[in-house]
Amino acid sequence: MSNKIIFSGVQPTGEIHIGNYLGAISQFVSNQDEYKSIFSIVDLHAITIPQNPKELLNRTRQVLAIFLASGIDPTKNIIFNQSQVAEHTQLAWILNCTARVGWLNRMTQFKDKAGKNKENASIGLYTYPILMAADILLYSASHVPVGDDQKQHLELARDIAHKFNTDYDTDIFRLPEPLLNKSSTRIMSLRDGSKKMSKSDISEYSRILMTDSNDEITIKIKKAKTDSMNMPSSSEEAGNRPEIENLLNIYCACSGESKDIIISDFSGKEISSFKNELTKVIISIVEPIAIKTKELLNDQDYLDNILKKGSDNARQIAKQKIKDLYKIIGMSE
Ligand code: AMP
Ligand code: TRP
Repeated sequence: MSNKIIFSGVQPTGEIHIGNYLGAISQFVSNQDEYKSIFSIVDLHAITIPQNPKELLNRTRQVLAIFLASGIDPTKNIIFNQSQVAEHTQLAWILNCTARVGWLNRMTQFKDKAGKNKENASIGLYTYPILMAADILLYSASHVPVGDDQKQHLELARDIAHKFNTDYDTDIFRLPEPLLNKSSTRIMSLRDGSKKMSKSDISEYSRILMTDSNDEITIKIKKAKTDSMNMPSSSEEAGNRPEIENLLNIYCACSGESKDIIISDFSGKEISSFKNELTKVIISIVEPIAIKTKELLNDQDYLDNILKKGSDNARQIAKQKIKDLYKIIGMSE
């Protein structure tokens, strides 16, 4: 199969931050002309940890609005909410029977998210990567644009696809490859250079939201943790200073310039002057998206129509895959 197909998912669990944008969403946009793309707002994944029923659908709409404001074209791509295509859960069950307990036990995200209280985590949180494999394999995705934190889940999806194909002597599942954005595959917290920027961090100052105002961005970058030395003069030096390295990565990803050039431009200068420039490049990316997102959120019918059309289109592809699978497994003729 040579046709290029992208599938990716984003959870409607909190507000989209610049890590989500630079690690994943900006790649959705830049690849949409080359690949047939399917993007899902994965509300079934979201409920692996408690969500407020009064907010969930609005959060889904908000993710959609950010997708559109970022430049994803709803007439070219399929965009839908995962829960509206029941075939995802259907395939997840089948893949539950292929995946091995030992494989899931190695998933580091479960260990991080469940923390010390593993016994009390939902079973959904544990089997989450299997639903993610179902998402990807249902549409025969060749490539999956994600941040670095999802690489292990993608490896698992490949292992499951390979084992199913071998067990049933078939090639029904295509093995997906990750698509990673080099400088922004792992954007770190602005408060702690050793922690990933995350929707669930308790500190609002740890992340720039894609809906932040220019003032909020300015304050967050001003307050971003750094050491007290001047700007590094080489990439080796930057590599030993995690907070500065992270800010440099954000600068490069937002401006599209190479890290070597940015390092030499700011070499030996005060961090505050770098932060001023960084604020400008971040605003140049976030401001238009924030404005457009607000506008789009005023037109709920427009957003809901896109999800409805997207779900209908996704369901058609998914139904055919389940039909083919049932024959292979011996559940229908
Ligand atoms: P999530 O918020 O977990 O649904 O993530 C949506 C997408 O953003 C996934 O592809 C993640 O890998 C990516 N992502 C999340 N956090 C970061 C981060 N700090 N840096 C880069 N990519 C990220
Ligand atoms: N697990 C991903 C995350 O937390 C979201 C996701 C669900 C996904 N299904 C997917 C990403 C399929 C890529 C492909 O970020």
